[in-house]
Amino acid sequence: VCGIVGYVGHRPALDVVLEGLRRLEYRGYDSAGVAVLTGCTDASGAGGRGNLSVERKAGRLANLEARLDEVGRAAFGGMAGMGHTRWATHGPPVDRNSHPHRDTAGRIAVVHNGIIENFASLRAELEADGVELTSDTDSETAAHLIAREYDSGETAGDFPASVRTVCRRLHGAFTLVVTHAGEPDKIVAARRSSPLVVGVGAGETFLASDVAAFIEHTRDAVELGQDQAVVITRDGYEVTDFHGGPSEAREFTVDWDLSAAEKGGHEYFMLKEIEEQPDALANTLRGHFVDGRIVLDEQRVSDQDLRDVDKVFVVACGSAYHSGLVAKYAIEHWTRLPVEVELASEFRYRDPVLDRATLVVAVSQSGETADTLEAIRHARAQKARVLAVCNTNGAQIPRESDAVLYTHAGPEIGVASTKAFLAQIAANYLVGLAIAQARGTKYADEVAREFAELEAMPAAVKQVLSTVDTVRALGRELADSKAVLFLGRHVGYPVALEGALKLKELAYMHAEGFAAGELKHGPIALIEDGLPVVVVMPSPKGRAVLHAKLVSNISEIQARGARTIVIAEEGDETVRPFADELIEVPAVPTLLQPLVSTVPLQVLAAEIARARGYDVDKPRNLAKSVTVE
Ligand code: F6R
Repeated sequence: VCGIVGYVGHRPALDVVLEGLRRLEYRGYDSAGVAVLTGCTDASGAGGRGNLSVERKAGRLANLEARLDEVGRAAFGGMAGMGHTRWATHGPPVDRNSHPHRDTAGRIAVVHNGIIENFASLRAELEADGVELTSDTDSETAAHLIAREYDSGETAGDFPASVRTVCRRLHGAFTLVVTHAGEPDKIVAARRSSPLVVGVGAGETFLASDVAAFIEHTRDAVELGQDQAVVITRDGYEVTDFHGGPSEAREFTVDWDLSAAEKGGHEYFMLKEIEEQPDALANTLRGHFVDGRIVLDEQRVSDQDLRDVDKVFVVACGSAYHSGLVAKYAIEHWTRLPVEVELASEFRYRDPVLDRATLVVAVSQSGETADTLEAIRHARAQKARVLAVCNTNGAQIPRESDAVLYTHAGPEIGVASTKAFLAQIAANYLVGLAIAQARGTKYADEVAREFAELEAMPAAVKQVLSTVDTVRALGRELADSKAVLFLGRHVGYPVALEGALKLKELAYMHAEGFAAGELKHGPIALIEDGLPVVVVMPSPKGRAVLHAKLVSNISEIQARGARTIVIAEEGDETVRPFADELIEVPAVPTLLQPLVSTVPLQVLAAEIARARGYDVDKPRNLAKSVTVE
């Protein structure tokens, strides 16, 4: 959570920073702020003559821009600066809690992503020293501590060293970007357990939480490692550890371009990302079936590793957790291994039974989710092997895992997960097939057949997308509903949970997903006249018994007045009489059905949200990367 941008170069920094913030606003949109340095270091390179202009405003980036227009942008004419877009943790989203935060003299400004866990004691120490803090945030303490270190600490007068010294005192997760009015041609930054990448351009250098902020200017990037600090100038960058010693950071070239980070004519990123799902699936599967075998990642997961596995845990949060619930059905069926799926936030505070033979699959789009990261640490401490399924190259979760299987869904900017969710399901299937292949619970020809069926899924999803206009119309009709229930059985159950989550987060509508068989054990009491209930049907051919049970469940709720919205396989005539609205999806193998049946539910939630006038890309109270527990 929180997006950070820094820039030193030859262009007006304010424009670069604001554009970068626009691309990172998915990370948080409670407030935004900028700091621009003007002036330059004098010829001797010693004392600088600079000025630091800061503006910050609660609410969306647009509020900040309006404020800048009001005060005039003349004071923000420098070629170095930084910005922040916030998802509030400490203190409500008001102007005074917005970043950048400054020291009392206003020379040092800091933007921060993460949580400084020992901030209470640091704050008390500063207050005892007579420092007056003006915000409720943990972040402001960093600005004052750096100023005090620079003025009178052991590293007095050395700006980068002062930042590093303070970083050594901070507990928790942080990316800090710091400017000093007296050193207007450099920016210092540091990271621990929160993301930070450097963008290397010609005569300009960038800092950001995510490459999307600078992809317009350069694709040459450097990923900072744990406990590394960096000084950027327009001529380049220098990475050190927190003691100032030399340290290596990973250079890479971003393999997608600006168009992936733009809406491309769509009203919302999410709508574009729903459309991109066939490609996301195809890209995730590409390269994983070679010479008749499933290949995960040749260097890091050997067949022997997979043969040794005697139990699988999937840990994840939100939609990623739902992808794990889908995986359970497939992996258990294919491998005959027990699979447990657990919310990362619960797993990490339990005492799960793990050992060397346990494979923990940690699923995360962002690769930054704090709950999932902590679950990984918990698992590794007990010697379990961790395989990350991740959409973000080089993020913290893959870095801390034994192996990684990347979903290649491309950048997902809409806060609600869509294409990354489908890609996670596909990647989890690959994990299941790889284990089955290694354990010999599936013969080579069976693995090949399963993979071929997976490879047919992008086309099936495309077909669903070509028919969703009726779902949109239905969404507009349902916009005034008070609540919607979602029911499913088998792999349709996690789909029901995902459908409900999408509706809650996008349309702020009460929605619940249930296993249809549970209905009679309590939830059926919720059914009343006109209540919309979405039912995810299994295939009448593939799962005849289950299908019959669900038909009975639908007739039970219809008899009690529910308005039934049924997602069923094309040609499923038996369910038609029970469906007030029928949404047809192509016939696919049962285990793969979530890849097609989820899509109409994404469209439905997005359309209801639009009809209710909500911003589909940025639902209230949420952020894309949740780096707090
Ligand atoms: C829902 C959604 C969230 C995420 C969850 C995990 O639409 O996007 O529930 O799935 O916060 O995020 P990652 O996958 O980044 O770990």
